[in-house]
Amino acid sequence: MTEVVHEAHQPKAATRWWRDAVIYQVYVRSFADGDGDGVGDLVGARGRLGYLADLGVDAVWLTPFYTSPMADFGYDVADYRDVDPVFGTLADARALIDDAHAYGMRVIIDVVPNHTSDRHAWFAAAVQAGPGAPERGRYIFRPGRGASGELPPNDWESVFGGPAWTRLPDGEWYLHLFDHRQPDLNWDSPEVHEEFTAILRFWLDLGVDGFRVDVAHGMVKAPGLPDIGTAGQVELLGTAVLPYFDQEGVHEIHRGWRRLLDSYEGERIGVAEAWAPTQERLARYVRPDELHQAFNFHFLKAPWDAAVMRVVIDESIATVSPVGAPSTWVLSNHDVKRHVTRYGGGEAGVRRARAAALLMLALPGSAYVYQGEELGLPEVLDLPDEVCRDPQRLRAPGDGRDGCRVPIPWAHAEPPFGFGPPGVADTWLPMPRSWAPLTVEAQAGDPGSTLSLYRAALRLRRGHAALGDGTMRWHGSPPGTLVFGRGEDFVCTVNMTGEPVELPRPGDLLLASAPVAQRGRSVVLAADSAAWWAAGRA
Ligand code: NOJ
Repeated sequence: MTEVVHEAHQPKAATRWWRDAVIYQVYVRSFADGDGDGVGDLVGARGRLGYLADLGVDAVWLTPFYTSPMADFGYDVADYRDVDPVFGTLADARALIDDAHAYGMRVIIDVVPNHTSDRHAWFAAAVQAGPGAPERGRYIFRPGRGASGELPPNDWESVFGGPAWTRLPDGEWYLHLFDHRQPDLNWDSPEVHEEFTAILRFWLDLGVDGFRVDVAHGMVKAPGLPDIGTAGQVELLGTAVLPYFDQEGVHEIHRGWRRLLDSYEGERIGVAEAWAPTQERLARYVRPDELHQAFNFHFLKAPWDAAVMRVVIDESIATVSPVGAPSTWVLSNHDVKRHVTRYGGGEAGVRRARAAALLMLALPGSAYVYQGEELGLPEVLDLPDEVCRDPQRLRAPGDGRDGCRVPIPWAHAEPPFGFGPPGVADTWLPMPRSWAPLTVEAQAGDPGSTLSLYRAALRLRRGHAALGDGTMRWHGSPPGTLVFGRGEDFVCTVNMTGEPVELPRPGDLLLASAPVAQRGRSVVLAADSAAWWAAGRA
Protein backbone atom coordinates (compact mmCIF):
# COMPACT_ATOMS: atom_id res chain seq x y z
CA MET A 1 0.00 0.00 0.00
CA THR A 2 1.29 3.51 -0.79
CA GLU A 3 2.61 5.34 2.27
CA VAL A 4 0.53 8.31 3.46
CA VAL A 5 2.48 11.52 3.69
CA HIS A 6 0.70 13.95 5.98
CA GLU A 7 0.94 17.49 4.82
CA ALA A 8 -1.43 20.41 4.62
CA HIS A 9 -4.03 20.15 1.85
CA GLN A 10 -3.20 22.93 -0.55
CA PRO A 11 -5.34 22.68 -3.67
CA LYS A 12 -4.11 24.95 -6.43
CA ALA A 13 -6.32 27.89 -7.20
CA ALA A 14 -8.63 27.87 -10.22
CA THR A 15 -7.76 24.47 -11.65
CA ARG A 16 -11.47 23.86 -12.28
CA TRP A 17 -10.60 20.32 -11.30
CA TRP A 18 -14.17 19.05 -11.45
CA ARG A 19 -14.35 19.55 -15.20
CA ASP A 20 -12.42 16.37 -15.88
CA ALA A 21 -12.11 14.65 -12.52
CA VAL A 22 -12.71 10.93 -12.14
CA ILE A 23 -14.62 10.52 -8.89
CA TYR A 24 -14.99 7.17 -7.16
CA GLN A 25 -18.22 6.48 -5.31
CA VAL A 26 -17.74 4.77 -1.97
CA TYR A 27 -21.02 3.31 -0.71
CA VAL A 28 -19.62 3.30 2.81
CA ARG A 29 -21.76 0.46 4.12
CA SER A 30 -20.40 -1.94 1.51
CA PHE A 31 -16.86 -0.77 0.81
CA ALA A 32 -14.64 -2.02 3.64
CA ASP A 33 -15.29 -2.99 7.24
CA GLY A 34 -12.81 -1.73 9.82
CA ASP A 35 -14.38 -3.02 13.03
CA GLY A 36 -15.59 -6.47 12.05
CA ASP A 37 -19.35 -6.05 12.39
CA GLY A 38 -19.95 -6.98 8.75
CA VAL A 39 -20.88 -3.41 7.80
CA GLY A 40 -18.49 -1.09 5.98
CA ASP A 41 -17.33 1.99 7.90
CA LEU A 42 -15.04 5.02 7.81
CA VAL A 43 -12.05 3.25 9.33
CA GLY A 44 -12.38 0.53 6.69
CA ALA A 45 -12.63 3.11 3.89
CA ARG A 46 -9.65 5.00 5.26
CA GLY A 47 -7.62 1.80 5.14
CA ARG A 48 -8.37 1.45 1.44
CA LEU A 49 -7.44 4.95 0.35
CA GLY A 50 -4.10 3.61 -0.95
CA TYR A 51 -6.03 1.31 -3.27
CA LEU A 52 -8.00 4.27 -4.61
CA ALA A 53 -4.88 6.37 -5.07
CA ASP A 54 -3.24 3.48 -6.97
CA LEU A 55 -6.37 3.09 -9.06
CA GLY A 56 -5.81 6.67 -10.13
CA VAL A 57 -9.01 8.51 -9.19
CA ASP A 58 -9.01 12.22 -8.39
CA ALA A 59 -11.67 12.26 -5.71
CA VAL A 60 -13.88 10.10 -3.56
CA TRP A 61 -17.59 10.57 -2.96
CA LEU A 62 -18.72 9.07 0.36
CA THR A 63 -22.42 8.19 0.69
CA PRO A 64 -24.15 9.36 3.92
CA PHE A 65 -22.44 8.30 7.13
CA TYR A 66 -24.48 10.58 9.43
CA THR A 67 -26.45 9.45 12.46
CA SER A 68 -29.39 7.55 11.06
CA PRO A 69 -31.86 4.81 11.94
CA MET A 70 -30.95 3.42 8.47
CA ALA A 71 -34.50 3.12 7.18
CA ASP A 72 -32.98 4.10 3.81
CA PHE A 73 -29.40 3.24 4.74
CA GLY A 74 -28.32 6.71 5.73
CA TYR A 75 -30.48 8.73 3.35
CA ASP A 76 -32.67 9.24 6.43
CA VAL A 77 -30.53 11.55 8.54
CA ALA A 78 -31.22 12.07 12.24
CA ASP A 79 -28.21 14.32 12.92
CA TYR A 80 -26.40 16.03 10.05
CA ARG A 81 -23.42 17.01 12.19
CA ASP A 82 -22.44 13.62 13.57
CA VAL A 83 -21.40 10.15 12.40
CA ASP A 84 -23.53 7.09 13.00
CA PRO A 85 -21.82 4.66 15.42
CA VAL A 86 -22.09 1.91 12.79
CA PHE A 87 -19.81 4.01 10.56
CA GLY A 88 -17.50 5.40 13.27
CA THR A 89 -16.97 8.81 14.80
CA LEU A 90 -16.49 12.39 13.75
CA ALA A 91 -12.77 11.90 14.43
CA ASP A 92 -12.79 9.00 11.92
CA ALA A 93 -14.41 11.26 9.32
CA ARG A 94 -11.81 13.95 9.91
CA ALA A 95 -8.96 11.43 9.69
CA LEU A 96 -10.34 10.00 6.46
CA ILE A 97 -10.65 13.45 4.88
CA ASP A 98 -7.11 14.36 5.95
CA ASP A 99 -5.62 11.11 4.67
CA ALA A 100 -7.42 11.39 1.33
CA HIS A 101 -5.97 14.88 0.98
CA ALA A 102 -2.52 13.56 1.82
CA TYR A 103 -2.93 11.09 -1.04
CA GLY A 104 -3.87 13.97 -3.31
CA MET A 105 -7.54 12.98 -3.55
CA ARG A 106 -10.49 15.24 -2.80
CA VAL A 107 -13.50 14.22 -0.76
CA ILE A 108 -17.13 14.83 -1.60
CA ILE A 109 -19.85 13.92 0.87
CA ASP A 110 -23.58 13.55 0.51
CA VAL A 111 -26.01 16.14 1.78
CA VAL A 112 -29.66 15.10 2.08
CA PRO A 113 -31.79 18.26 2.06
CA ASN A 114 -35.14 17.06 0.72
CA HIS A 115 -36.05 15.10 3.82
CA THR A 116 -34.81 14.13 7.27
CA SER A 117 -35.28 10.96 9.24
CA ASP A 118 -38.46 10.72 11.31
CA ARG A 119 -36.02 10.43 14.24
CA HIS A 120 -34.56 13.89 13.58
CA ALA A 121 -35.12 16.19 16.59
CA TRP A 122 -37.16 18.54 14.40
CA PHE A 123 -39.61 15.86 13.36
CA ALA A 124 -39.95 14.54 16.89
CA ALA A 125 -40.73 18.10 18.02
CA ALA A 126 -43.24 18.53 15.19
CA VAL A 127 -45.09 15.34 16.10
CA GLN A 128 -45.10 16.31 19.74
CA ALA A 129 -46.23 19.89 19.18
CA GLY A 130 -49.47 19.04 17.37
CA PRO A 131 -51.45 20.63 14.51
CA GLY A 132 -50.87 24.31 13.89
CA ALA A 133 -47.67 24.51 15.98
CA PRO A 134 -44.68 26.35 14.47
CA GLU A 135 -42.61 23.15 14.81
CA ARG A 136 -44.78 21.64 12.05
CA GLY A 137 -43.80 24.48 9.75
CA ARG A 138 -40.42 22.89 9.06
CA TYR A 139 -42.15 19.95 7.36
CA ILE A 140 -45.14 19.65 5.06
CA PHE A 141 -48.15 18.90 7.24
CA ARG A 142 -51.71 19.19 5.93
CA PRO A 143 -55.21 18.21 6.99
CA GLY A 144 -56.67 15.33 4.99
CA ARG A 145 -59.51 15.33 2.51
CA GLY A 146 -62.86 13.57 2.95
CA ALA A 147 -65.58 14.11 5.53
CA SER A 148 -63.27 13.46 8.46
CA GLY A 149 -59.89 14.07 6.82
CA GLU A 150 -59.42 10.36 6.24
CA LEU A 151 -58.04 10.79 2.71
CA PRO A 152 -54.53 12.04 1.88
CA PRO A 153 -54.27 15.77 1.06
CA ASN A 154 -53.49 15.03 -2.60
CA ASP A 155 -52.82 12.13 -4.98
CA TRP A 156 -49.02 12.17 -4.88
CA GLU A 157 -47.29 8.81 -4.74
CA SER A 158 -44.04 7.99 -2.98
CA VAL A 159 -41.05 7.13 -5.15
CA PHE A 160 -40.86 3.93 -3.11
CA GLY A 161 -44.53 3.09 -3.80
CA GLY A 162 -47.84 3.83 -2.09
CA PRO A 163 -49.20 7.24 -1.10
CA ALA A 164 -46.68 10.02 -0.37
CA TRP A 165 -48.61 10.92 2.79
CA THR A 166 -48.84 9.35 6.23
CA ARG A 167 -51.39 10.31 8.87
CA LEU A 168 -50.52 10.91 12.48
CA PRO A 169 -52.86 9.89 15.31
CA ASP A 170 -53.80 13.59 15.75
CA GLY A 171 -55.35 13.53 12.26
CA GLU A 172 -52.78 15.55 10.27
CA TRP A 173 -50.89 14.12 7.34
CA TYR A 174 -47.23 14.68 6.47
CA LEU A 175 -45.57 14.44 3.08
CA HIS A 176 -42.79 11.97 2.31
CA LEU A 177 -41.70 11.57 -1.29
CA PHE A 178 -39.70 8.52 -0.22
CA ASP A 179 -40.24 6.21 2.76
CA HIS A 180 -42.69 7.25 5.51
CA ARG A 181 -39.64 7.46 7.77
CA GLN A 182 -38.25 10.24 5.53
CA PRO A 183 -40.53 13.28 6.04
CA ASP A 184 -40.02 16.05 3.44
CA LEU A 185 -38.73 19.35 4.72
CA ASN A 186 -40.56 22.59 3.94
CA TRP A 187 -38.13 24.73 1.95
CA ASP A 188 -40.49 27.70 2.24
CA SER A 189 -39.28 27.93 5.84
CA PRO A 190 -36.33 30.30 6.39
CA GLU A 191 -35.28 28.13 9.30
CA VAL A 192 -34.71 25.19 6.95
CA HIS A 193 -32.50 27.36 4.70
CA GLU A 194 -30.49 28.61 7.68
CA GLU A 195 -30.03 25.14 9.09
CA PHE A 196 -28.67 23.73 5.83
CA THR A 197 -26.33 26.65 5.35
CA ALA A 198 -24.98 25.90 8.82
CA ILE A 199 -24.69 22.18 8.03
CA LEU A 200 -22.76 22.85 4.82
CA ARG A 201 -20.47 25.22 6.68
CA PHE A 202 -19.84 22.61 9.36
CA TRP A 203 -18.50 20.13 6.80
CA LEU A 204 -16.72 22.71 4.66
CA ASP A 205 -14.91 23.85 7.78
CA LEU A 206 -13.96 20.23 8.43
CA GLY A 207 -12.31 20.17 5.00
CA VAL A 208 -14.66 18.46 2.55
CA ASP A 209 -14.24 19.47 -1.08
CA GLY A 210 -17.89 19.41 -1.96
CA PHE A 211 -21.33 17.87 -1.73
CA ARG A 212 -23.36 15.45 -3.75
CA VAL A 213 -26.83 16.93 -3.34
CA ASP A 214 -29.42 14.19 -2.85
CA VAL A 215 -32.71 14.75 -4.70
CA ALA A 216 -31.42 18.15 -5.82
CA HIS A 217 -34.57 18.52 -7.96
CA GLY A 218 -37.00 17.84 -5.14
CA MET A 219 -36.86 20.39 -2.36
CA VAL A 220 -39.43 22.81 -3.74
CA LYS A 221 -43.02 21.75 -4.36
CA ALA A 222 -45.56 23.49 -6.62
CA PRO A 223 -47.72 26.02 -4.70
CA GLY A 224 -50.95 24.50 -3.46
CA LEU A 225 -49.57 20.96 -3.85
CA PRO A 226 -51.84 20.24 -6.86
CA ASP A 227 -53.08 16.77 -7.75
CA ILE A 228 -51.31 15.04 -10.63
CA GLY A 229 -54.40 13.20 -11.79
CA THR A 230 -52.80 9.88 -12.74
CA ALA A 231 -51.69 6.80 -10.90
CA GLY A 232 -48.37 5.11 -11.59
CA GLN A 233 -46.40 8.34 -11.06
CA VAL A 234 -43.19 6.44 -10.44
CA GLU A 235 -43.15 5.56 -14.12
CA LEU A 236 -43.18 9.29 -14.92
CA LEU A 237 -40.12 10.05 -12.82
CA GLY A 238 -37.40 11.58 -14.91
CA THR A 239 -39.66 11.87 -17.97
CA ALA A 240 -42.42 14.37 -17.03
CA VAL A 241 -42.53 17.59 -15.03
CA LEU A 242 -44.23 16.72 -11.75
CA PRO A 243 -45.38 19.21 -9.10
CA TYR A 244 -42.84 17.88 -6.63
CA PHE A 245 -39.77 17.61 -8.85
CA ASP A 246 -37.71 20.01 -10.96
CA GLN A 247 -39.63 23.10 -9.83
CA GLU A 248 -38.14 26.51 -10.62
CA GLY A 249 -37.56 27.31 -6.95
CA VAL A 250 -34.86 24.65 -6.49
CA HIS A 251 -32.49 26.71 -8.62
CA GLU A 252 -32.58 29.60 -6.15
CA ILE A 253 -31.43 27.21 -3.43
CA HIS A 254 -28.56 25.97 -5.59
CA ARG A 255 -27.54 29.56 -6.37
CA GLY A 256 -27.32 30.30 -2.67
CA TRP A 257 -25.24 27.18 -2.08
CA ARG A 258 -22.92 28.08 -4.96
CA ARG A 259 -22.26 31.44 -3.34
CA LEU A 260 -21.46 29.63 -0.12
CA LEU A 261 -19.13 27.14 -1.85
CA ASP A 262 -17.38 29.97 -3.68
CA SER A 263 -16.80 31.81 -0.42
CA TYR A 264 -14.44 28.99 0.62
CA GLU A 265 -10.87 28.48 -0.61
CA GLY A 266 -10.03 25.46 -2.68
CA GLU A 267 -12.70 25.14 -5.38
CA ARG A 268 -15.38 23.31 -3.40
CA ILE A 269 -18.10 21.85 -5.58
CA GLY A 270 -21.72 20.76 -5.66
CA VAL A 271 -22.97 17.86 -7.75
CA ALA A 272 -26.67 17.45 -8.42
CA GLU A 273 -28.48 14.17 -8.18
CA ALA A 274 -31.31 15.46 -10.32
CA TRP A 275 -33.65 13.26 -12.31
CA ALA A 276 -34.73 15.87 -14.85
CA PRO A 277 -37.13 14.97 -17.65
CA THR A 278 -34.84 16.17 -20.44
CA GLN A 279 -31.18 16.93 -20.93
CA GLU A 280 -32.10 20.63 -21.34
CA ARG A 281 -33.77 20.64 -17.93
CA LEU A 282 -30.75 18.87 -16.43
CA ALA A 283 -28.36 21.47 -17.87
CA ARG A 284 -30.14 24.14 -15.83
CA TYR A 285 -28.61 22.68 -12.65
CA VAL A 286 -25.08 23.42 -13.92
CA ARG A 287 -25.55 27.00 -15.05
CA PRO A 288 -22.52 29.11 -14.10
CA ASP A 289 -24.05 30.32 -10.84
CA GLU A 290 -25.48 26.95 -9.75
CA LEU A 291 -23.90 23.56 -9.12
CA HIS A 292 -20.72 22.33 -10.81
CA GLN A 293 -21.84 18.90 -11.96
CA ALA A 294 -25.04 16.94 -12.52
CA PHE A 295 -25.01 13.18 -13.01
CA ASN A 296 -25.83 12.31 -16.59
CA PHE A 297 -28.47 9.67 -15.97
CA HIS A 298 -29.54 9.84 -19.62
CA PHE A 299 -26.16 8.26 -20.47
CA LEU A 300 -26.54 5.72 -17.66
CA LYS A 301 -29.95 4.70 -18.96
CA ALA A 302 -28.91 4.36 -22.63
CA PRO A 303 -28.98 0.78 -23.91
CA TRP A 304 -25.97 -0.95 -25.49
CA ASP A 305 -26.77 0.42 -28.92
CA ALA A 306 -24.38 2.61 -30.88
CA ALA A 307 -27.05 4.74 -32.56
CA VAL A 308 -28.86 5.50 -29.31
CA MET A 309 -25.61 6.06 -27.43
CA ARG A 310 -24.42 8.52 -30.06
CA VAL A 311 -27.62 10.56 -29.81
CA VAL A 312 -27.39 10.63 -26.01
CA ILE A 313 -23.74 11.74 -26.13
CA ASP A 314 -24.50 14.44 -28.69
CA GLU A 315 -27.48 15.73 -26.72
CA SER A 316 -25.49 15.67 -23.49
CA ILE A 317 -22.73 17.80 -24.89
CA ALA A 318 -25.06 20.07 -26.85
CA THR A 319 -27.09 20.89 -23.76
CA VAL A 320 -24.31 21.50 -21.24
CA SER A 321 -21.97 23.36 -23.61
CA PRO A 322 -24.16 26.50 -23.86
CA VAL A 323 -24.10 26.89 -20.07
CA GLY A 324 -20.34 26.36 -20.05
CA ALA A 325 -20.40 23.13 -18.03
CA PRO A 326 -18.87 19.73 -18.74
CA SER A 327 -20.96 16.59 -18.87
CA THR A 328 -20.68 14.23 -15.90
CA TRP A 329 -20.72 10.67 -17.17
CA VAL A 330 -21.82 7.79 -14.99
CA LEU A 331 -22.60 4.12 -15.65
CA SER A 332 -23.64 2.79 -12.24
CA ASN A 333 -24.43 3.80 -8.68
CA HIS A 334 -26.04 2.39 -5.54
CA ASP A 335 -29.57 2.92 -6.88
CA VAL A 336 -29.43 1.11 -10.23
CA LYS A 337 -28.66 -2.35 -11.51
CA ARG A 338 -24.92 -2.71 -12.15
CA HIS A 339 -24.12 -2.13 -15.80
CA VAL A 340 -22.50 -5.55 -16.39
CA THR A 341 -25.99 -6.92 -15.79
CA ARG A 342 -27.88 -4.08 -17.51
CA TYR A 343 -25.85 -4.70 -20.65
CA GLY A 344 -26.86 -8.35 -20.77
CA GLY A 345 -24.92 -10.06 -17.99
CA GLY A 346 -22.59 -13.02 -18.34
CA GLU A 347 -19.55 -12.78 -20.60
CA ALA A 348 -21.25 -10.38 -22.98
CA GLY A 349 -22.15 -8.11 -20.07
CA VAL A 350 -18.54 -8.02 -18.86
CA ARG A 351 -17.21 -7.39 -22.39
CA ARG A 352 -19.64 -4.51 -22.84
CA ALA A 353 -18.96 -3.06 -19.41
CA ARG A 354 -15.22 -3.04 -20.14
CA ALA A 355 -15.85 -1.33 -23.46
CA ALA A 356 -18.25 1.13 -21.82
CA ALA A 357 -15.53 2.11 -19.35
CA LEU A 358 -13.15 3.06 -22.17
CA LEU A 359 -15.98 4.92 -23.90
CA MET A 360 -16.92 6.86 -20.78
CA LEU A 361 -13.37 7.71 -19.81
CA ALA A 362 -12.61 9.00 -23.31
CA LEU A 363 -15.61 11.35 -23.45
CA PRO A 364 -15.12 15.05 -22.69
CA GLY A 365 -15.92 15.91 -19.09
CA SER A 366 -15.75 14.17 -15.75
CA ALA A 367 -16.80 10.65 -14.80
CA TYR A 368 -17.97 8.78 -11.72
CA VAL A 369 -16.91 5.20 -11.02
CA TYR A 370 -19.14 3.20 -8.65
CA GLN A 371 -17.22 0.94 -6.28
CA GLY A 372 -16.80 -2.52 -7.77
CA GLU A 373 -17.34 -1.53 -11.38
CA GLU A 374 -13.54 -1.53 -11.72
CA LEU A 375 -13.74 -5.22 -10.77
CA GLY A 376 -16.46 -5.94 -13.33
CA LEU A 377 -18.92 -6.91 -10.59
CA PRO A 378 -22.37 -7.95 -11.78
CA GLU A 379 -25.63 -7.27 -9.96
CA VAL A 380 -26.35 -10.00 -7.41
CA LEU A 381 -29.72 -11.22 -8.62
CA ASP A 382 -30.34 -14.17 -6.36
CA LEU A 383 -30.26 -12.62 -2.90
CA PRO A 384 -32.78 -14.45 -0.72
CA ASP A 385 -35.82 -12.34 0.15
CA GLU A 386 -35.10 -12.52 3.87
CA VAL A 387 -31.74 -10.71 3.54
CA CYS A 388 -32.98 -7.90 1.27
CA ARG A 389 -33.43 -4.65 3.16
CA ASP A 390 -34.02 -1.90 0.61
CA PRO A 391 -37.21 0.12 1.30
CA GLN A 392 -37.66 0.56 -2.45
CA ARG A 393 -38.56 -3.13 -2.65
CA LEU A 394 -42.01 -2.08 -1.42
CA ARG A 395 -42.57 -0.72 -4.89
CA ALA A 396 -41.13 -3.54 -6.91
CA PRO A 397 -40.81 -6.69 -4.82
CA GLY A 398 -37.85 -8.75 -5.96
CA ASP A 399 -36.34 -5.78 -7.76
CA GLY A 400 -34.81 -3.64 -5.03
CA ARG A 401 -31.39 -2.02 -4.85
CA ASP A 402 -29.72 -4.60 -2.60
CA GLY A 403 -28.13 -6.42 -5.54
CA CYS A 404 -25.85 -3.49 -6.42
CA ARG A 405 -24.92 -2.91 -2.76
CA VAL A 406 -23.30 -6.24 -1.96
CA PRO A 407 -19.94 -5.71 -0.18
CA ILE A 408 -16.74 -5.46 -2.19
CA PRO A 409 -14.56 -8.58 -2.48
CA TRP A 410 -10.99 -7.67 -1.59
CA ALA A 411 -9.08 -10.93 -1.21
CA HIS A 412 -9.05 -14.68 -0.47
CA ALA A 413 -11.01 -17.52 -2.03
CA GLU A 414 -14.18 -17.41 0.05
CA PRO A 415 -16.73 -14.94 1.36
CA PRO A 416 -16.35 -12.52 3.07
CA PHE A 417 -13.35 -12.03 0.78
CA GLY A 418 -11.36 -9.84 3.16
CA PHE A 419 -14.20 -7.32 3.52
CA GLY A 420 -13.38 -6.96 7.22
CA PRO A 421 -10.70 -7.98 9.68
CA PRO A 422 -9.70 -11.69 9.67
CA GLY A 423 -12.07 -14.06 11.39
CA VAL A 424 -15.26 -12.14 10.68
CA ALA A 425 -17.65 -14.37 8.80
CA ASP A 426 -20.82 -12.49 7.92
CA THR A 427 -21.38 -9.37 5.89
CA TRP A 428 -24.61 -7.35 6.05
CA LEU A 429 -25.54 -8.71 2.63
CA PRO A 430 -24.12 -12.12 1.68
CA MET A 431 -21.39 -12.21 -0.98
CA PRO A 432 -21.58 -14.79 -3.79
CA ARG A 433 -18.96 -17.56 -3.70
CA SER A 434 -18.62 -17.08 -7.46
CA TRP A 435 -16.83 -13.77 -6.81
CA ALA A 436 -13.55 -15.54 -5.91
CA PRO A 437 -11.94 -14.66 -9.29
CA LEU A 438 -13.20 -11.07 -9.01
CA THR A 439 -11.43 -10.01 -5.82
CA VAL A 440 -8.96 -7.15 -5.92
CA GLU A 441 -6.24 -9.62 -4.95
CA ALA A 442 -7.12 -11.99 -7.80
CA GLN A 443 -7.24 -9.21 -10.38
CA ALA A 444 -4.35 -7.01 -9.28
CA GLY A 445 -1.58 -9.05 -10.87
CA ASP A 446 -3.52 -10.06 -13.97
CA PRO A 447 -2.89 -7.71 -16.90
CA GLY A 448 -6.09 -8.93 -18.57
CA SER A 449 -8.35 -8.17 -15.60
CA THR A 450 -10.95 -5.45 -15.49
CA LEU A 451 -9.09 -3.87 -12.58
CA SER A 452 -5.92 -3.66 -14.69
CA LEU A 453 -7.96 -2.14 -17.53
CA TYR A 454 -9.32 0.61 -15.25
CA ARG A 455 -5.88 1.30 -13.78
CA ALA A 456 -4.32 1.58 -17.22
CA ALA A 457 -7.17 3.74 -18.54
CA LEU A 458 -7.03 6.12 -15.58
CA ARG A 459 -3.25 6.42 -15.84
CA LEU A 460 -3.42 7.16 -19.57
CA ARG A 461 -6.33 9.55 -19.11
CA ARG A 462 -4.48 11.53 -16.47
CA GLY A 463 -1.36 11.85 -18.59
CA HIS A 464 -2.99 12.54 -21.96
CA ALA A 465 -3.57 16.19 -22.80
CA ALA A 466 -6.43 15.38 -25.19
CA LEU A 467 -8.49 13.52 -22.58
CA GLY A 468 -10.70 14.92 -19.85
CA ASP A 469 -12.18 18.37 -20.45
CA GLY A 470 -12.47 19.61 -24.03
CA THR A 471 -14.23 18.73 -27.24
CA MET A 472 -14.69 15.66 -29.40
CA ARG A 473 -15.50 14.98 -33.03
CA TRP A 474 -17.11 11.95 -34.62
CA HIS A 475 -15.39 10.05 -37.40
CA GLY A 476 -17.36 8.12 -40.00
CA SER A 477 -17.66 4.46 -39.02
CA PRO A 478 -19.72 1.35 -39.84
CA PRO A 479 -23.18 0.85 -38.28
CA GLY A 480 -23.02 -0.40 -34.72
CA THR A 481 -19.69 1.31 -34.04
CA LEU A 482 -18.63 4.66 -32.59
CA VAL A 483 -15.35 6.32 -33.53
CA PHE A 484 -14.37 9.74 -32.23
CA GLY A 485 -11.29 11.87 -31.92
CA ARG A 486 -10.03 14.07 -29.08
CA GLY A 487 -7.40 16.74 -29.69
CA GLU A 488 -4.88 16.15 -32.46
CA ASP A 489 -3.75 12.70 -31.56
CA PHE A 490 -6.33 10.59 -29.81
CA VAL A 491 -9.03 8.30 -31.22
CA CYS A 492 -11.48 6.03 -29.40
CA THR A 493 -13.15 3.17 -31.26
CA VAL A 494 -16.12 1.24 -29.89
CA ASN A 495 -17.67 -1.80 -31.53
CA MET A 496 -21.11 -2.23 -29.99
CA THR A 497 -22.09 -5.13 -32.25
CA GLY A 498 -21.80 -8.82 -31.41
CA GLU A 499 -19.51 -9.37 -34.44
CA PRO A 500 -15.91 -8.40 -35.22
CA VAL A 501 -15.68 -5.21 -37.30
CA GLU A 502 -12.82 -4.21 -39.60
CA LEU A 503 -11.71 -0.55 -39.69
CA PRO A 504 -8.79 1.36 -41.17
CA ARG A 505 -6.08 1.42 -38.50
CA PRO A 506 -6.57 4.69 -36.53
CA GLY A 507 -2.96 4.79 -35.22
CA ASP A 508 -0.88 3.02 -32.59
CA LEU A 509 -2.86 1.05 -30.06
CA LEU A 510 -2.77 2.55 -26.57
CA LEU A 511 -5.24 0.35 -24.73
CA ALA A 512 -8.03 -2.06 -25.60
CA SER A 513 -10.82 -3.78 -23.71
CA ALA A 514 -10.31 -6.95 -25.81
CA PRO A 515 -7.58 -8.17 -28.18
CA VAL A 516 -7.38 -6.19 -31.44
CA ALA A 517 -6.19 -8.02 -34.56
CA GLN A 518 -4.02 -5.98 -36.96
CA ARG A 519 -4.31 -6.76 -40.67
CA GLY A 520 -1.97 -4.57 -42.68
CA ARG A 521 -3.51 -1.10 -42.69
CA SER A 522 -6.71 -2.40 -41.07
CA VAL A 523 -7.63 -3.53 -37.61
CA VAL A 524 -10.33 -5.91 -36.53
CA LEU A 525 -12.19 -4.85 -33.41
CA ALA A 526 -13.58 -7.75 -31.39
CA ALA A 527 -17.32 -7.92 -30.68
CA ASP A 528 -18.40 -5.55 -27.85
CA SER A 529 -15.02 -3.92 -27.43
CA ALA A 530 -13.37 -0.51 -27.32
CA ALA A 531 -9.86 0.72 -27.94
CA TRP A 532 -7.83 3.88 -27.51
CA TRP A 533 -5.38 4.91 -30.22
CA ALA A 534 -2.54 7.40 -30.60
CA ALA A 535 -3.75 8.85 -33.87
CA GLY A 536 -1.68 10.02 -36.80
CA ARG A 537 1.04 7.43 -36.34
CA ALA A 538 -0.47 4.66 -38.49
C1 NOJ B 1 -31.24 9.17 -3.89
C2 NOJ B 1 -30.31 8.22 -3.19
O1 NOJ B 1 -29.24 7.91 -4.06
C3 NOJ B 1 -31.12 7.02 -2.82
O2 NOJ B 1 -30.31 5.95 -2.38
C4 NOJ B 1 -32.15 7.42 -1.79
O3 NOJ B 1 -33.01 6.34 -1.51
C5 NOJ B 1 -33.00 8.59 -2.30
N1 NOJ B 1 -32.24 9.61 -2.95
C6 NOJ B 1 -33.75 9.24 -1.15
O4 NOJ B 1 -32.85 9.95 -0.35
